Amino acid sequence: MATSTVPARETRRGPNNILLKTVMAASGLFFVGYLLLHMYGNLQILFGRGAFDDYAHHLRVFGEGMVPENGVLWIARILLLASLVAHVWAGMVLWRRAGAARSTRYAGKRKTTYGSVYAKAMRWGGLAILLFVIFHILHFTTQTITLAGEHVSPAERVISSFQLWWAVLIYVVAMIAVGMHLVHGIYAACMTLGLNTTVKRGEQIRLISIAVTTLIVVGFLIPPFAILFGFVD
Ligand code: HEM
Repeated sequence: MATSTVPARETRRGPNNILLKTVMAASGLFFVGYLLLHMYGNLQILFGRGAFDDYAHHLRVFGEGMVPENGVLWIARILLLASLVAHVWAGMVLWRRAGAARSTRYAGKRKTTYGSVYAKAMRWGGLAILLFVIFHILHFTTQTITLAGEHVSPAERVISSFQLWWAVLIYVVAMIAVGMHLVHGIYAACMTLGLNTTVKRGEQIRLISIAVTTLIVVGFLIPPFAILFGFVD
């Protein structure tokens, strides 16, 4: 017995699901590239305040002579924001469609499947990461939220924050959410893009997703712990 009178086609207006999933996959893999670069940049703090401040300065003057100061940084920011809007929009449309499809298909009890648990984790995890990114920009970029005072030097901002155990804890929780989202997201993106041409290739993609996720999570967590335990001063 159907529980809704809304015809299934009603919910299919707008771009088709394959296009939406391709948008999610492409923007998601773009974020993975950004995260790898961002993680590598953060590791400069292990070489001292000077190295990190130099790196932060170079980001701002990159391409000088061809583009104005902060030009490349702003291009990257605009690309990131456009990818974020596309990723969240496509995710929301797919989420709404999945909900509408379920209400027409099942009578009474909703089935909990392996796939539906993953889907839920990806959606709520994605929202949690979005909230973290807003907090993170307010913390380090605009310094609207100051955990350990305002500092002109980017290295000083990072070091003073991660000398606080609870700030490290916030970032550990966020990196766990990022890791859970990435391990399934990278795999799902490769599936959407049709890279799983054989069963063996599918298994390799699973291993690569785990390896890249581990690299990103561990790489991001090294600076906070190195600072907390006094290896960076
Ligand atoms: C322990 C983990 C992380 C640390 C220590 C860290 C550190 C930083 C710092 C210091 C900045 C400011 C750079 C500057 O203005 O000079 C920054 C900016 C930023 N971070 Fe992170 N980050 C971490 C994880 C992440 C993650 C997981 C994401 C995304 C999911 C992310 C996304 C961003 C974004 C979007 C910016 C703003 C870039 C800009 O517009 O200037 N970060 N991060």
